[in-house]
Amino acid sequence: MRLRSTRLGFDPQLVFCANHDRGEVEEIMIAAISLPRLMRIGAGASRELAPVLQQLGLKSPMIVTDKYLVSSGKVDALVEPLNAAAITARVFSDSGPDPTITSINAGLAFLRESEHDCVIGFGGGSPIDSSKAIAVLAVHGGKMPDYKTPHMQDTPGLPIIAIPTTAGTGSEATRFTIITDEVTDEKMLCPGTAYLPIAALVDFELTMTKPKRLTADTGIDSLTHAIEAYVSKRANPFSDSMALAAMRAIAPNLRRVMKDPGDRAAREALMIGATQAGIAFSNSSVALVHGMSRPIGAHFHVPHGLSNAMLLPAITAFSAPAALKRYAESARAMGIAPEAEGDQSSVARLLEELDSLNRDLDVPGPKAYGIDENKWMSLIPTMAKQAIASGSPANNPRVPTAEEIETLYKQVWRASA
Ligand SMILES: [Fe+2]
Repeated sequence: MRLRSTRLGFDPQLVFCANHDRGEVEEIMIAAISLPRLMRIGAGASRELAPVLQQLGLKSPMIVTDKYLVSSGKVDALVEPLNAAAITARVFSDSGPDPTITSINAGLAFLRESEHDCVIGFGGGSPIDSSKAIAVLAVHGGKMPDYKTPHMQDTPGLPIIAIPTTAGTGSEATRFTIITDEVTDEKMLCPGTAYLPIAALVDFELTMTKPKRLTADTGIDSLTHAIEAYVSKRANPFSDSMALAAMRAIAPNLRRVMKDPGDRAAREALMIGATQAGIAFSNSSVALVHGMSRPIGAHFHVPHGLSNAMLLPAITAFSAPAALKRYAESARAMGIAPEAEGDQSSVARLLEELDSLNRDLDVPGPKAYGIDENKWMSLIPTMAKQAIASGSPANNPRVPTAEEIETLYKQVWRASA
Protein backbone atom coordinates (compact mmCIF):
# COMPACT_ATOMS: atom_id res chain seq x y z
CA MET A 1 0.00 0.00 0.00
CA ARG A 2 1.28 3.42 -0.95
CA LEU A 3 0.45 6.30 1.37
CA ARG A 4 0.19 9.93 0.55
CA SER A 5 -1.08 12.61 2.85
CA THR A 6 -3.54 14.41 0.60
CA ARG A 7 -4.19 15.32 -2.99
CA LEU A 8 -6.31 18.26 -1.92
CA GLY A 9 -3.65 20.82 -1.31
CA PHE A 10 -6.04 23.72 -0.79
CA ASP A 11 -7.82 22.16 2.19
CA PRO A 12 -5.44 21.55 5.08
CA GLN A 13 -8.29 20.08 7.13
CA LEU A 14 -8.69 17.06 5.04
CA VAL A 15 -6.07 14.34 5.00
CA PHE A 16 -8.17 11.41 3.94
CA CYS A 17 -9.84 10.50 0.72
CA ALA A 18 -11.88 7.38 0.07
CA ASN A 19 -10.39 4.89 -2.31
CA HIS A 20 -13.84 4.23 -3.81
CA ASP A 21 -13.84 1.96 -6.76
CA ARG A 22 -11.53 4.04 -8.88
CA GLY A 23 -8.44 1.96 -8.24
CA GLU A 24 -6.53 4.86 -6.74
CA VAL A 25 -3.75 4.67 -4.15
CA GLU A 26 -4.72 4.38 -0.47
CA GLU A 27 -4.66 7.61 1.48
CA ILE A 28 -3.68 8.15 5.10
CA MET A 29 -6.92 7.39 6.87
CA ILE A 30 -7.54 10.40 9.06
CA ALA A 31 -10.74 12.32 8.43
CA ALA A 32 -11.06 15.79 9.96
CA ILE A 33 -14.63 15.90 11.31
CA SER A 34 -16.40 19.00 12.64
CA LEU A 35 -19.82 18.93 14.28
CA PRO A 36 -22.00 21.32 16.29
CA ARG A 37 -21.16 21.06 20.00
CA LEU A 38 -24.82 20.77 21.07
CA MET A 39 -27.81 19.47 19.20
CA ARG A 40 -31.44 19.09 20.23
CA ILE A 41 -33.38 16.89 17.80
CA GLY A 42 -37.08 16.06 17.88
CA ALA A 43 -40.61 17.48 18.12
CA GLY A 44 -40.51 20.76 20.05
CA ALA A 45 -36.67 21.00 20.10
CA SER A 46 -36.82 24.72 19.25
CA ARG A 47 -38.48 25.32 22.63
CA GLU A 48 -35.15 24.33 24.22
CA LEU A 49 -33.47 27.54 23.05
CA ALA A 50 -33.33 29.18 26.49
CA PRO A 51 -31.69 26.20 28.28
CA VAL A 52 -29.26 25.75 25.39
CA LEU A 53 -28.21 29.42 25.56
CA GLN A 54 -27.86 29.12 29.34
CA GLN A 55 -25.73 26.00 28.94
CA LEU A 56 -23.45 28.00 26.63
CA GLY A 57 -23.41 31.04 28.94
CA LEU A 58 -24.98 33.28 26.26
CA LYS A 59 -27.32 36.11 27.25
CA SER A 60 -27.88 38.59 24.40
CA PRO A 61 -28.54 36.98 21.04
CA MET A 62 -29.30 38.66 17.75
CA ILE A 63 -31.91 36.58 15.91
CA VAL A 64 -31.62 36.60 12.11
CA THR A 65 -34.86 35.57 10.41
CA ASP A 66 -37.30 36.59 7.67
CA LYS A 67 -40.55 38.52 7.51
CA TYR A 68 -42.73 35.42 6.94
CA LEU A 69 -41.53 33.84 10.19
CA VAL A 70 -42.25 37.09 12.04
CA SER A 71 -45.77 37.41 10.58
CA SER A 72 -46.57 33.73 11.21
CA GLY A 73 -45.92 34.20 14.94
CA LYS A 74 -43.06 31.68 14.95
CA VAL A 75 -40.52 34.30 16.00
CA ASP A 76 -42.68 35.36 18.95
CA ALA A 77 -43.00 31.73 20.00
CA LEU A 78 -39.20 31.51 19.96
CA VAL A 79 -38.53 34.78 21.79
CA GLU A 80 -41.14 34.69 24.58
CA PRO A 81 -39.50 31.89 26.60
CA LEU A 82 -36.20 33.82 26.38
CA ASN A 83 -37.68 36.80 28.22
CA ALA A 84 -38.70 34.52 31.09
CA ALA A 85 -35.10 33.30 31.29
CA ALA A 86 -33.71 36.89 31.41
CA ILE A 87 -32.17 36.55 27.95
CA THR A 88 -32.51 39.70 25.84
CA ALA A 89 -32.90 39.03 22.12
CA ARG A 90 -33.19 41.49 19.23
CA VAL A 91 -34.75 40.38 15.94
CA PHE A 92 -33.41 41.23 12.48
CA SER A 93 -35.96 40.09 9.89
CA ASP A 94 -34.44 41.43 6.64
CA SER A 95 -32.29 38.45 5.70
CA GLY A 96 -34.07 38.13 2.30
CA PRO A 97 -34.49 35.05 0.11
CA ASP A 98 -30.84 34.89 -1.00
CA PRO A 99 -28.33 36.64 1.26
CA THR A 100 -26.25 39.26 -0.55
CA ILE A 101 -23.31 41.44 0.43
CA THR A 102 -25.82 44.28 0.97
CA SER A 103 -28.18 42.25 3.17
CA ILE A 104 -25.25 40.98 5.25
CA ASN A 105 -23.97 44.53 5.73
CA ALA A 106 -27.46 45.58 6.89
CA GLY A 107 -27.45 42.71 9.40
CA LEU A 108 -24.01 43.69 10.60
CA ALA A 109 -25.11 47.30 11.12
CA PHE A 110 -28.09 46.02 13.16
CA LEU A 111 -25.78 43.87 15.30
CA ARG A 112 -23.54 46.86 16.04
CA GLU A 113 -26.47 48.93 17.30
CA SER A 114 -26.34 46.92 20.51
CA GLU A 115 -24.24 44.43 22.48
CA HIS A 116 -24.68 40.84 21.26
CA ASP A 117 -22.77 37.76 22.34
CA CYS A 118 -24.13 35.35 19.71
CA VAL A 119 -26.15 35.15 16.50
CA ILE A 120 -29.15 32.86 16.02
CA GLY A 121 -30.15 31.85 12.49
CA PHE A 122 -33.87 31.00 12.45
CA GLY A 123 -35.40 29.94 9.14
CA GLY A 124 -34.39 28.24 5.91
CA GLY A 125 -30.88 28.28 4.48
CA SER A 126 -30.90 32.03 3.87
CA PRO A 127 -31.36 33.28 7.47
CA ILE A 128 -28.97 30.62 8.77
CA ASP A 129 -26.33 31.45 6.14
CA SER A 130 -26.83 35.15 6.91
CA SER A 131 -26.32 34.54 10.64
CA LYS A 132 -23.04 32.76 9.88
CA ALA A 133 -21.68 35.58 7.73
CA ILE A 134 -22.72 38.25 10.27
CA ALA A 135 -21.12 36.27 13.13
CA VAL A 136 -17.78 36.08 11.29
CA LEU A 137 -17.70 39.68 9.99
CA ALA A 138 -18.66 40.98 13.46
CA VAL A 139 -15.39 39.67 14.88
CA HIS A 140 -12.99 39.62 11.93
CA GLY A 141 -14.11 42.63 9.83
CA GLY A 142 -13.32 43.04 6.14
CA LYS A 143 -15.70 42.41 3.26
CA MET A 144 -17.58 39.24 2.36
CA PRO A 145 -15.65 38.58 -0.89
CA ASP A 146 -12.47 38.34 1.25
CA TYR A 147 -13.94 35.16 2.74
CA LYS A 148 -14.81 33.23 -0.41
CA THR A 149 -13.02 30.00 -1.26
CA PRO A 150 -10.08 29.31 -1.31
CA HIS A 151 -9.97 31.46 1.87
CA MET A 152 -10.56 29.18 4.87
CA GLN A 153 -12.08 30.88 7.93
CA ASP A 154 -11.40 28.61 10.87
CA THR A 155 -10.76 31.16 13.63
CA PRO A 156 -14.18 31.57 15.26
CA GLY A 157 -16.44 34.60 15.05
CA LEU A 158 -19.40 35.03 17.41
CA PRO A 159 -21.08 31.75 18.43
CA ILE A 160 -23.82 30.71 15.98
CA ILE A 161 -27.01 28.87 16.96
CA ALA A 162 -29.04 27.45 14.06
CA ILE A 163 -32.75 26.59 14.12
CA PRO A 164 -33.87 25.34 10.69
CA THR A 165 -37.49 25.70 9.60
CA THR A 166 -37.01 23.82 6.33
CA ALA A 167 -35.68 20.30 5.89
CA GLY A 168 -33.15 21.08 3.21
CA THR A 169 -29.87 22.95 3.33
CA GLY A 170 -28.46 21.20 6.40
CA SER A 171 -26.80 24.56 7.09
CA GLU A 172 -27.41 23.97 10.83
CA ALA A 173 -24.59 21.41 10.72
CA THR A 174 -22.22 22.69 8.02
CA ARG A 175 -18.99 24.65 7.99
CA PHE A 176 -20.02 26.74 4.98
CA THR A 177 -22.03 29.80 4.11
CA ILE A 178 -23.15 30.93 0.65
CA ILE A 179 -23.45 34.67 0.01
CA THR A 180 -24.30 36.25 -3.36
CA ASP A 181 -22.13 39.03 -4.72
CA GLU A 182 -24.88 41.02 -6.41
CA VAL A 183 -22.38 42.98 -8.53
CA THR A 184 -20.92 39.91 -10.25
CA ASP A 185 -23.96 37.61 -9.77
CA GLU A 186 -21.70 35.08 -8.09
CA LYS A 187 -22.83 32.80 -5.27
CA MET A 188 -19.68 32.85 -3.14
CA LEU A 189 -18.90 29.66 -1.24
CA CYS A 190 -17.26 30.63 2.06
CA PRO A 191 -15.77 27.67 3.97
CA GLY A 192 -14.28 27.18 7.44
CA THR A 193 -15.20 25.96 10.91
CA ALA A 194 -16.05 29.54 11.96
CA TYR A 195 -19.35 28.98 10.10
CA LEU A 196 -20.19 25.78 11.98
CA PRO A 197 -23.00 26.46 14.49
CA ILE A 198 -22.06 25.79 18.10
CA ALA A 199 -25.63 24.52 18.63
CA ALA A 200 -28.42 23.31 16.36
CA LEU A 201 -32.07 22.84 17.36
CA VAL A 202 -33.67 20.48 14.84
CA ASP A 203 -37.45 20.59 15.30
CA PHE A 204 -39.49 18.96 12.52
CA GLU A 205 -42.70 20.55 13.87
CA LEU A 206 -41.45 23.84 12.37
CA THR A 207 -41.72 22.24 8.90
CA MET A 208 -45.31 20.97 9.17
CA THR A 209 -46.80 23.98 7.35
CA LYS A 210 -44.12 24.23 4.68
CA PRO A 211 -45.71 24.81 1.21
CA LYS A 212 -45.57 22.03 -1.37
CA ARG A 213 -43.05 23.63 -3.75
CA LEU A 214 -40.68 24.45 -0.88
CA THR A 215 -41.04 20.92 0.50
CA ALA A 216 -40.10 19.43 -2.88
CA ASP A 217 -37.19 21.81 -3.55
CA THR A 218 -35.62 21.53 -0.11
CA GLY A 219 -36.14 17.74 -0.09
CA ILE A 220 -34.29 17.32 -3.39
CA ASP A 221 -31.55 19.65 -2.14
CA SER A 222 -30.95 17.42 0.88
CA LEU A 223 -31.05 14.25 -1.25
CA THR A 224 -28.46 15.85 -3.55
CA HIS A 225 -26.26 16.64 -0.53
CA ALA A 226 -26.37 13.00 0.55
CA ILE A 227 -25.60 11.57 -2.91
CA GLU A 228 -22.83 14.09 -3.62
CA ALA A 229 -21.22 13.59 -0.20
CA TYR A 230 -21.21 9.83 -0.85
CA VAL A 231 -19.68 9.95 -4.33
CA SER A 232 -17.31 12.84 -3.55
CA LYS A 233 -13.57 12.33 -3.76
CA ARG A 234 -13.50 13.61 -0.18
CA ALA A 235 -15.84 10.93 1.17
CA ASN A 236 -14.67 9.06 4.26
CA PRO A 237 -16.18 6.33 6.46
CA PHE A 238 -17.78 8.85 8.85
CA SER A 239 -19.37 10.99 6.13
CA ASP A 240 -20.45 7.78 4.34
CA SER A 241 -22.45 6.65 7.38
CA MET A 242 -24.27 9.98 7.53
CA ALA A 243 -24.82 10.13 3.75
CA LEU A 244 -26.33 6.63 3.59
CA ALA A 245 -28.54 7.27 6.63
CA ALA A 246 -29.73 10.49 4.99
CA MET A 247 -30.58 8.74 1.71
CA ARG A 248 -32.52 6.05 3.64
CA ALA A 249 -34.47 8.75 5.50
CA ILE A 250 -35.15 11.14 2.61
CA ALA A 251 -35.81 8.99 -0.48
CA PRO A 252 -38.88 7.00 0.70
CA ASN A 253 -40.47 10.01 2.42
CA LEU A 254 -40.38 12.71 -0.24
CA ARG A 255 -43.40 11.49 -2.21
CA ARG A 256 -45.17 10.57 1.05
CA VAL A 257 -45.01 14.11 2.39
CA MET A 258 -46.07 15.58 -0.95
CA LYS A 259 -49.23 13.43 -0.81
CA ASP A 260 -49.90 14.12 2.86
CA PRO A 261 -48.20 17.28 4.20
CA GLY A 262 -49.45 16.41 7.69
CA ASP A 263 -47.57 13.09 7.82
CA ARG A 264 -45.54 13.67 10.99
CA ALA A 265 -43.36 10.57 10.64
CA ALA A 266 -42.39 11.53 7.07
CA ARG A 267 -41.72 15.16 8.09
CA GLU A 268 -39.51 13.94 10.94
CA ALA A 269 -37.56 11.61 8.63
CA LEU A 270 -37.00 14.42 6.10
CA MET A 271 -35.81 16.79 8.83
CA ILE A 272 -33.37 14.31 10.38
CA GLY A 273 -32.26 13.25 6.90
CA ALA A 274 -31.53 16.87 5.94
CA THR A 275 -29.36 17.36 9.03
CA GLN A 276 -27.55 14.05 8.43
CA ALA A 277 -26.97 15.07 4.80
CA GLY A 278 -25.61 18.42 6.01
CA ILE A 279 -23.20 16.63 8.37
CA ALA A 280 -22.22 14.31 5.49
CA PHE A 281 -21.32 16.99 2.97
CA SER A 282 -19.79 19.32 5.55
CA ASN A 283 -17.32 16.54 6.38
CA SER A 284 -16.97 15.34 2.78
CA SER A 285 -18.11 17.81 0.14
CA VAL A 286 -20.72 18.51 -2.48
CA ALA A 287 -19.65 18.06 -6.09
CA LEU A 288 -20.58 18.88 -9.67
CA VAL A 289 -24.35 19.30 -9.20
CA HIS A 290 -23.82 22.06 -6.63
CA GLY A 291 -20.94 23.55 -8.59
CA MET A 292 -23.21 23.98 -11.64
CA SER A 293 -26.34 24.80 -9.64
CA ARG A 294 -25.05 27.91 -7.84
CA PRO A 295 -24.48 29.94 -11.06
CA ILE A 296 -28.03 29.07 -12.24
CA GLY A 297 -29.37 30.37 -8.93
CA ALA A 298 -27.27 33.52 -9.09
CA HIS A 299 -28.01 34.48 -12.73
CA PHE A 300 -31.61 33.30 -13.07
CA HIS A 301 -32.87 33.42 -9.46
CA VAL A 302 -33.94 29.79 -9.50
CA PRO A 303 -34.45 28.43 -5.95
CA HIS A 304 -31.42 26.37 -4.93
CA GLY A 305 -33.13 22.99 -4.58
CA LEU A 306 -34.91 23.44 -7.89
CA SER A 307 -31.72 24.16 -9.84
CA ASN A 308 -30.14 21.09 -8.21
CA ALA A 309 -33.14 19.02 -9.31
CA MET A 310 -32.86 20.32 -12.89
CA LEU A 311 -29.25 19.11 -13.01
CA LEU A 312 -29.24 15.95 -10.89
CA PRO A 313 -30.29 13.34 -13.53
CA ALA A 314 -27.88 14.59 -16.24
CA ILE A 315 -24.93 15.05 -13.88
CA THR A 316 -25.50 11.62 -12.33
CA ALA A 317 -25.48 10.04 -15.81
CA PHE A 318 -22.24 11.91 -16.62
CA SER A 319 -20.52 10.97 -13.34
CA ALA A 320 -21.72 7.42 -12.72
CA PRO A 321 -19.18 5.57 -14.92
CA ALA A 322 -16.38 6.93 -12.67
CA ALA A 323 -17.93 5.63 -9.41
CA LEU A 324 -20.39 2.95 -10.42
CA LYS A 325 -20.22 1.10 -7.10
CA ARG A 326 -20.90 4.25 -5.07
CA TYR A 327 -23.90 5.26 -7.19
CA ALA A 328 -25.22 1.67 -7.04
CA GLU A 329 -24.92 1.75 -3.23
CA SER A 330 -26.84 5.04 -3.27
CA ALA A 331 -29.62 3.35 -5.26
CA ARG A 332 -29.75 0.54 -2.69
CA ALA A 333 -29.82 2.98 0.24
CA MET A 334 -32.65 4.87 -1.44
CA GLY A 335 -34.60 1.62 -1.63
CA ILE A 336 -34.87 1.57 -5.41
CA ALA A 337 -32.50 -1.35 -6.15
CA PRO A 338 -32.49 -4.73 -4.41
CA GLU A 339 -29.35 -5.52 -2.37
CA ALA A 340 -28.43 -8.43 -4.63
CA GLU A 341 -28.69 -6.53 -7.90
CA GLY A 342 -25.52 -5.74 -9.90
CA ASP A 343 -24.01 -2.27 -9.98
CA GLN A 344 -24.78 -1.47 -13.60
CA SER A 345 -28.50 -2.18 -13.37
CA SER A 346 -28.74 -0.51 -9.92
CA VAL A 347 -27.31 2.66 -11.45
CA ALA A 348 -29.79 2.38 -14.34
CA ARG A 349 -32.57 2.27 -11.74
CA LEU A 350 -31.08 5.32 -10.01
CA LEU A 351 -31.13 7.32 -13.25
CA GLU A 352 -34.74 6.31 -13.90
CA GLU A 353 -35.73 7.21 -10.35
CA LEU A 354 -34.16 10.68 -10.51
CA ASP A 355 -36.12 11.43 -13.70
CA SER A 356 -39.32 10.05 -12.25
CA LEU A 357 -38.84 11.97 -8.99
CA ASN A 358 -38.54 15.21 -10.98
CA ARG A 359 -41.76 14.36 -12.85
CA ASP A 360 -43.63 13.48 -9.64
CA LEU A 361 -42.42 16.63 -7.87
CA ASP A 362 -43.26 18.86 -10.88
CA VAL A 363 -39.69 20.02 -11.36
CA PRO A 364 -39.56 22.18 -14.50
CA GLY A 365 -36.55 22.29 -16.81
CA PRO A 366 -34.87 25.69 -17.32
CA LYS A 367 -37.09 26.47 -20.36
CA ALA A 368 -40.35 25.55 -18.62
CA TYR A 369 -39.19 27.63 -15.64
CA GLY A 370 -39.27 30.65 -17.96
CA ILE A 371 -35.56 31.21 -18.56
CA ASP A 372 -34.71 32.92 -21.85
CA GLU A 373 -32.79 30.59 -24.18
CA ASN A 374 -30.43 33.26 -25.52
CA LYS A 375 -29.54 34.42 -22.02
CA TRP A 376 -28.96 30.81 -20.89
CA MET A 377 -26.74 30.00 -23.89
CA SER A 378 -24.76 33.24 -23.71
CA LEU A 379 -24.07 32.83 -19.99
CA ILE A 380 -22.89 29.21 -20.27
CA PRO A 381 -19.14 30.05 -20.52
CA THR A 382 -19.41 32.36 -17.47
CA MET A 383 -21.41 29.79 -15.50
CA ALA A 384 -18.86 27.08 -16.34
CA LYS A 385 -16.02 29.33 -15.10
CA GLN A 386 -17.90 30.14 -11.89
CA ALA A 387 -18.69 26.46 -11.33
CA ILE A 388 -15.02 25.52 -11.58
CA ALA A 389 -13.93 28.46 -9.40
CA SER A 390 -16.18 27.21 -6.57
CA GLY A 391 -13.98 24.12 -6.27
CA SER A 392 -16.96 21.72 -6.13
CA PRO A 393 -16.48 20.11 -9.59
CA ALA A 394 -12.94 19.08 -8.55
CA ASN A 395 -14.51 16.81 -5.91
CA ASN A 396 -16.72 15.03 -8.44
CA PRO A 397 -15.87 11.37 -9.13
CA ARG A 398 -15.51 12.37 -12.79
CA VAL A 399 -13.78 15.74 -12.90
CA PRO A 400 -15.13 17.69 -15.88
CA THR A 401 -13.31 20.13 -18.13
CA ALA A 402 -14.84 23.56 -18.70
CA GLU A 403 -15.97 22.34 -22.13
CA GLU A 404 -17.71 19.34 -20.59
CA ILE A 405 -19.52 21.60 -18.11
CA GLU A 406 -20.65 23.80 -21.01
CA THR A 407 -21.94 20.71 -22.86
CA LEU A 408 -23.82 19.60 -19.73
CA TYR A 409 -25.54 23.00 -19.41
CA LYS A 410 -26.58 22.73 -23.08
CA GLN A 411 -27.78 19.15 -22.54
CA VAL A 412 -29.90 20.16 -19.54
CA TRP A 413 -31.50 22.91 -21.66
CA ARG A 414 -32.24 20.55 -24.57
CA ALA A 415 -33.68 17.88 -22.29
CA SER A 416 -36.25 20.42 -21.10
CA ALA A 417 -36.92 22.06 -24.49
FE1 LIG B 1 -27.52 22.44 -1.44
